Amino acid sequence: MNRDIKESFERTRAAGLIAAGALDEVFKIIRPGITTNEIDYLCYEFINDHGAYSAPLFYRGFPRSSCTSANHVVCHGIPSDKVLKEGDILNVDVTAYKDGWHGDTSRMFQVGNISVKAKKLIETTYEAMMKAIKILKEDIQLGDIGSTIQKHVEAKGFSVVQDFCGHGIGKKFHEQPSILHYGKQGTGEKIKAGMIFTIEPMINFGNYETKTLKDGWTAVTKDKSLSAQFEHTVGITKDGYEIFTESKN
Ligand code: MF3
Ligand code: CO
Ligand code: CO
Repeated sequence: MNRDIKESFERTRAAGLIAAGALDEVFKIIRPGITTNEIDYLCYEFINDHGAYSAPLFYRGFPRSSCTSANHVVCHGIPSDKVLKEGDILNVDVTAYKDGWHGDTSRMFQVGNISVKAKKLIETTYEAMMKAIKILKEDIQLGDIGSTIQKHVEAKGFSVVQDFCGHGIGKKFHEQPSILHYGKQGTGEKIKAGMIFTIEPMINFGNYETKTLKDGWTAVTKDKSLSAQFEHTVGITKDGYEIFTESKN
């Protein structure tokens, strides 16, 4: 591995571990009655205490350190005084910026007991992300990633959001290429060793269409059906991949 790639992997690994650690803390405290602002503050503090910055804070005017997307919110939910209640599902998305490099990750959390259908949606979303990660190595094509996700999700009767995608990540939060979570096998750009990007499928229980609320950020499902998302930051190697945002617990 050349020196520049080695350094970029080391730095992304360090940032990614902090982001993953913040989500581990969320898991410990999430329960009915907590607000999304409290979750956001915990992430803010954890990331700062570990010598990093929260990249979302003030990014293009975003007002918080994390995105908290509950139930039919697809992504970019803004933390607020909203109180979580038994049965809610919540995505928390954090990005740590440390020594010039980013680590971006999100997970789903259950608030108390959740419905069987919500569990199925969350499980399918996680499986789709991991299935796509497991095919990663030099010279596969971007369409292979999208089609792996789309096939898995549609076989379970759910739909893939098309309005948001994964992205290259590194010294900048969002870089080329865009990583679509749907597509055709054997199409698109070939990926190369040393590339770093996110895979972050958003999966809807109903229709794939979304709309953005008047706050300019919050994306919701048009049909108000539940939506789930997971995200990892990954690096490509000659014969495989490294996940930089896996929890070490
Ligand atoms: N973390 C999100 C992503 O996965 C981006 C959030 S941008 C923000 O790309 F401004 F909404 F925070
Ligand atoms: Co991302
Ligand atoms: Co993210």
